[in-house]
Amino acid sequence: MATQQLGTALITGASTGIGAVYADRLARRGYDLVLVARDAARLEALAERLRRETGRKVESFKADLTAKADLAQVEQRLRDDQSLTVLVNNAGMSVAGSLLDGEIDHFQTMIELNVVAATRLAAAAARNFVGRKQGAIVNIASVLALAPEIYNGSYSGTKAYLLNLSLSLQKELAPAGVYVQAVLPGATRTEIWQRAGVDVDGFPPEMVMEVDAMVDAALAGFDQGELVTIPSLPDQTDFERYTAARLALGPNLSRNAPAERYLSQHSNAA
Ligand SMILES: NC(=O)c1ccc[n+]([C@@H]2O[C@H](COP(=O)([O-])OP(=O)(O)OC[C@H]3O[C@@H](n4cnc5c(N)ncnc54)[C@H](OP(=O)(O)O)[C@@H]3O)[C@@H](O)[C@H]2O)c1
Repeated sequence: MATQQLGTALITGASTGIGAVYADRLARRGYDLVLVARDAARLEALAERLRRETGRKVESFKADLTAKADLAQVEQRLRDDQSLTVLVNNAGMSVAGSLLDGEIDHFQTMIELNVVAATRLAAAAARNFVGRKQGAIVNIASVLALAPEIYNGSYSGTKAYLLNLSLSLQKELAPAGVYVQAVLPGATRTEIWQRAGVDVDGFPPEMVMEVDAMVDAALAGFDQGELVTIPSLPDQTDFERYTAARLALGPNLSRNAPAERYLSQHSNAA
């Protein structure tokens, strides 16, 4: 009964970290699951545990989302499977170093995963969900979308892209009954740090959230229908003020004449 009501959630990057906790929580809520990542053994171990503990249908779907053929298979599943009601667009990576000293091919792979794959998967899910006037797309961005000065700018850029995509998709999809949520975690204790060669234990402990707490907060935001959820932000009105200031720029962002300060030098010279 619960399965029929809630449908199936497809979670990318579900073999560990944030995606694995989403899998656990959504199975306990009564969703069936499709778990996507590259490590088939880890996926299957999680799937088996969740089947045993929750009785839900849990499928592991091995795919490298930076490989065109694998990505196409996941997209096709998202477009065609009428039991799907949630996409958790979570798979993502970071890279070591800056543009000056990092390995440029790693930056490209990161963009393929964090931006290209996430966009194609969101588009595939959106087409499916709009047709049935239901469903939710959860994009796991990052607080770095708002703070490019703090860390590697390319990673922040991929996450700012996801935030912008979510804001725009929400406008497009809400009238069709589809919910979009952008989640902006701060530093969260997962393997992503180690994979990027960063020691998360080097951060002040008060900056690092445990992954269970982060996902539970993100799901509380989901239940409240938030468009943007920032699990660690104590005062939501801070973000509301930021959004209001950004929106206030709107009427002046595109005009038929340059601003006065760009004209004065020219007119003085003339
Ligand atoms: N942890 C943080 O501090 C933090 C903060 C803000 C945002 N985020 C975002 O949260 C999301 C999840 O990160 P996490 O911290 O949970 O990282 P994680 O522990 O490293 O997990 C990443 C997941 O993505 C999968 N993955 C990586 N490359 C993939 C590929 N090419 N194709 C398919 N799956 C792939 C990994 O599985 P396989 O290796 O098995 O493929 C794993 O399941 C990311 O988008 C990240 O940017 C994390």
